[in-house]
Amino acid sequence: MRLSAQQPIGIFDSGVGGLTVASAINKLLPQEQLIYFGDTAHTPWGTQSQASIQNYATRITKYLLDRNCKVIVVACNSASAAALQQVEAVASGKALVYNVIDPVISYLKTHYQKSKVGLIGTKQTVQSNTYANKLAAQTQSIELQCLATPIFVPLIEEGLGNTKYAKDFVEYYMSNPRFKDIAALVLGCTHYPLIKEQMNLYFKHRVQIIDSAATVANLLAAELQDRDLLNNLNGPQQEFFVSADSSFFYELATKFFQANISLHTYPLWEDQAVHLQETSN
Ligand code: DGL
Repeated sequence: MRLSAQQPIGIFDSGVGGLTVASAINKLLPQEQLIYFGDTAHTPWGTQSQASIQNYATRITKYLLDRNCKVIVVACNSASAAALQQVEAVASGKALVYNVIDPVISYLKTHYQKSKVGLIGTKQTVQSNTYANKLAAQTQSIELQCLATPIFVPLIEEGLGNTKYAKDFVEYYMSNPRFKDIAALVLGCTHYPLIKEQMNLYFKHRVQIIDSAATVANLLAAELQDRDLLNNLNGPQQEFFVSADSSFFYELATKFFQANISLHTYPLWEDQAVHLQETSN
């Protein structure tokens, strides 16, 4: 695979969640050109079938490859659990692929041996058992307790993460007996760092809240450096695409990236809509 440092980094998620990962990458690697795709037309992904998530993830990956990305970051746990193989197959020989689950598994292995750890995520992520299986393949000494918390993504996408509604649901889910005496809680969804403070308040800062953003950014930075693929642009304008209009997406992207951002609504699914119309005629 022949890649060059000047190529952009592609990042995608179902909506605003992956912005937490994109923001960590931008902080560490401000000279990289980022192209972000949020599939706001289909969010949330985590309650949908594996086949649907594979369809969305591969289509977006193709778009990012058309944009000449050297790296594809699957900034979504649900897609990392349900569609990683498909994304890797599409990107094979064209771009490096990163997911948000493996770096957290390594982190747990290094820091939480012989501990009880909680994990929250979407239904797709939790029911797939991806974290539990990956962890069990590497170590037997971490007790992982998982719970699907599907209400959080729609709340966050609606910009309600900082409200009493989110706080009530944090209390509801976190008081589940399976989380008694956990040493750490993994936020197994890239949306959840947006309500991290609510978790910290609930646990009175006694439980470490782990999210993937910084670990993924660190891993990416180290590997791009090793491969001599670090870009050196001076304040690149970062590009953001959504598949359906979302004012909260714009608000959050502007907050995370401060500088000039360009946001476009991109009709990624419209060729399919036309196709359906034609077949129903
Ligand atoms: N942020 C994604 C994840 O990490 C997707 C959540 C969703 O759309 O349900 O799982």
